[in-house]
Amino acid sequence: MAKKWVYMFSEGGESMRDLLGGKGAGLAEMTRAGLPVPPGFTITTEACNEYFKNGRKFPEGMWEQTLEALREVEKMTGKKFGDPSNPLLVSVRSGAKVSMPGMMDTVLNLGLNEETLKGLAKLTQNERFAYDAYRRFIQMFGRIVMKVPGEKFDEAFEKIKQKYGAQKDTDLGVEALKEVVAEFKRIYKEHVGEDFPSDPYEQLRRAIGAVFESWFGKRAVDYRNYYGIPHDWGTAVNIVTMVFGNMGDDSGTGVTFTRDPATGEKILWGEYLPNAQGEDVVAGIRTPYKIEELKEKMPEVYEQLVKVSELLERHYKDMQDMEFTVERGKLWMLQTRAGKRTAKAAVKIAVDMVKEGIISKEEAIMRVTPEQVDQLLHPRFDEKAKEQAKAEGRYLAKGLNASPGAATGIAVFDADTAEELGKKGESVILVRPETSPDDVHGMLVAKGILTQHGGATSHAAVVARGLGKPCVAGCEAIRIDLTRRLFTVNGKVVKEGDIISIDGSTGEVFVGPITTIEPKLEEEEELLALLSWADEVRRLGVWANADYPKDARQARNFGAEGIGLCRTEHMFFEPDRLPIVHQMILAETLEERQAALDKLLPIQKEDFKGIFRVMEGLPVIIRLIDPPLHEFLPKYEDLVAEVTELRVRLEYEKDNAELKARLAEKEALLRKVAAMREANPMLGFRGVRLGVLWPEINRMQVRAIMEAACELSKEGLRVYPEIMIPVTANANELKILKELVDETARKVMEEQGVTVKYKFGTMIEIPRAALTAGEFARYAEFFSFGTNDLTQTVYGISRDDAEGKFLLAYVEKGVIPANPFQTLDREGVGRIMKMCVEEARQVRPDIEIGICGEHGGDPASIEFCHIIGLNYVSCSPFRVPIARLAAAQAALQHEYGLKKKVIV
Ligand SMILES: Nc1ncnc2c1ncn2[C@@H]1O[C@H](COP(=O)(O)OP(=O)(O)OP(=O)(O)O)[C@@H](O)[C@H]1O
Ligand SMILES: [Mg+2]
Repeated sequence: MAKKWVYMFSEGGESMRDLLGGKGAGLAEMTRAGLPVPPGFTITTEACNEYFKNGRKFPEGMWEQTLEALREVEKMTGKKFGDPSNPLLVSVRSGAKVSMPGMMDTVLNLGLNEETLKGLAKLTQNERFAYDAYRRFIQMFGRIVMKVPGEKFDEAFEKIKQKYGAQKDTDLGVEALKEVVAEFKRIYKEHVGEDFPSDPYEQLRRAIGAVFESWFGKRAVDYRNYYGIPHDWGTAVNIVTMVFGNMGDDSGTGVTFTRDPATGEKILWGEYLPNAQGEDVVAGIRTPYKIEELKEKMPEVYEQLVKVSELLERHYKDMQDMEFTVERGKLWMLQTRAGKRTAKAAVKIAVDMVKEGIISKEEAIMRVTPEQVDQLLHPRFDEKAKEQAKAEGRYLAKGLNASPGAATGIAVFDADTAEELGKKGESVILVRPETSPDDVHGMLVAKGILTQHGGATSHAAVVARGLGKPCVAGCEAIRIDLTRRLFTVNGKVVKEGDIISIDGSTGEVFVGPITTIEPKLEEEEELLALLSWADEVRRLGVWANADYPKDARQARNFGAEGIGLCRTEHMFFEPDRLPIVHQMILAETLEERQAALDKLLPIQKEDFKGIFRVMEGLPVIIRLIDPPLHEFLPKYEDLVAEVTELRVRLEYEKDNAELKARLAEKEALLRKVAAMREANPMLGFRGVRLGVLWPEINRMQVRAIMEAACELSKEGLRVYPEIMIPVTANANELKILKELVDETARKVMEEQGVTVKYKFGTMIEIPRAALTAGEFARYAEFFSFGTNDLTQTVYGISRDDAEGKFLLAYVEKGVIPANPFQTLDREGVGRIMKMCVEEARQVRPDIEIGICGEHGGDPASIEFCHIIGLNYVSCSPFRVPIARLAAAQAALQHEYGLKKKVIV
């Protein structure tokens, strides 16, 4: 017997999501819960995969099973497919395991031809409706199944609308629609080279094939690549009895969410369009009404919708996004799925649902992505700057606040240009009449999206929310002229390339830039609650990298439990200190060098005091000087140019004593710099190597650290300095430095008459260090993985060259799964880290091990740090909240086996 490829809705359910796709599983689940779902069935994702394996042929038995299921639907509805007197019409809908909104195609009203059309008209006593359904069908079938360019239909339709003086689609009468049908058929024949197929079975077979094909359509592939969805999942095909929202004013169609997807507020939220078919809302062709209006127009339907929505939310334990249609006063449910939401809504819904007893704290933690936390902490417009822009007359119009956040950029009118400019690093705002899946590549790079038509559930709005980008939709006041590449609004003209600002939280649109401000974590109540729950379950500590007290303060406000990396180089680079640093580097004798260092000592001490004060009670890892010294000196090439110029000038001003002196000075400097030049500074004379050969610098730094610590300790502050040595490759280097550090610290503590506990440790950023971790652990009380350099040295590539030249192409070609500088390479770099941890702990079980590379703020890398048992991750202050959540998710996933369930 052939495999089972087809399931009636009554046979499926939520647990069969892989096989039936999200839409099919949802329809089945609703059917079984007794909700009003039009009869139908699902062809499985396996059938789709088999279709491609089979050289694009239906698998054996699938068509027969489809026909059988269709017979079943005929029985349930009392209608017959292709029957002129009582025709069954169906929709053919795609539906993958995860929702890919608008990425796949749907054909409605299938089964119509000249005969069934007449039957439908007679049966419904509504000829206009029948023709409206027919013209939609020809258009959709032509465009989706046979790839007739959609604009051909649109243009013809507009022409006829103009001819009849119709404003809206619904203004067209039967005669006009008949004309539309004839014209559409002509267009179809012109492009396809044959007549529109009148056999409903032929229509069905082709439509099913087209849904399968759309799985590998460009926009679907792009979407999957962007979201990392596997290409071998396949799509299911859902065949659903048509119900009609376009049968008059007691009919309509809508989309509704059980909570507000922008704010997360618990209200029935959505939109409704009377006398229309579903795709009118989704495509944003007409701007719909708010769902509350349904309450007045059809109170019973509204009440029923409220009940259904409560039931579904409780059932799925998550916010639902539902599609419905009302046919002559009767409600039909056409889809339910977990609703896409903004970052703000995701956090609020997760926290509220814990309070409402629907989910546990742990589930709430798994419902929010670290990226959403990131988005929440993104900038918004400064209210004052906004007020000022209004006062200056820069306010243009207001549309729907479809996806929150603020953005400023140049207006661009098509996705390709947006993509091109965006990739060059320009901030662009994509401005479109409405968006379609073909615009997604432009939306991905745009800073924000502005559309003239469409509601809060239009394509633009849904995709923007998913991407976390601001979007103002349905801004009807602007008139876009795509050919002249501009829009006009209230007599003003905004051309392509002009700067505009959009506020997706309010819907406001401005010309010119507006200053943005950073949001405040302390005001994000729900996020704070969620993060505090995350802190309860995570095992990894979350520290931050901060060089300045103000960064340390920011980090601490965000919940950092220590400083994992305080770099000291910047303390040398400050303009007022650089001359002293130059003296120190250029010194001919030890005395000269010491004199310069003595001048730097009090300054560094103050720097450290600043950080220690802010981090009172928490550990602070200070890394001794890291870069090669020539980085502090002027560049060789610049000096050569300067010296040459001075020499030329002296040719003309031979007696200019001042010039001569300057030349002599520059020449001396050039000689020094030339002598210090390195072919590959990254692997040169730097870090601990400096400490071994020029110990005075490190000694000064340790003294500054310990004096700062002792003095504050005497003030009663709790200070926990940890001194970290960079670029070590050999345990003997550590041995030498440990002596230096201990001796200097002992001296300082004696002088100060106080003891301060400090730790001595090292960066692990060279493979040899990791490979000899046991040796290292004899000296070091802590390790910190510098995974940027470790990745460079393990891979044998320099980041700047690699990212610029081939690394990203490697990712695109699939040579490597991800940029190893963004996400830790677990197999290579990670393997070395794991070995290092294990070996070090054998020698020193309580050794403190963390990571301070950029990876410390990357969720996937954080998960790996959890797995290999690090003590903490250290990241940039702004990523601290993200890391807190990611660390908690790693713990829940690996210690308690919880799965992430995230809807973005
Ligand atoms: N049998 C039907 N009767 C009436 N309307 C339908 C029927 N099937 C689908 N629709 C409507 O047609 C529109 C498009 O359908 P569908 O849900 O398949 O695709 P979509 O919403 O564009 O994308 P997604 O796959 O993300 O849901 C929706 O508004 C839906 O409610
Ligand atoms: Mg849908």
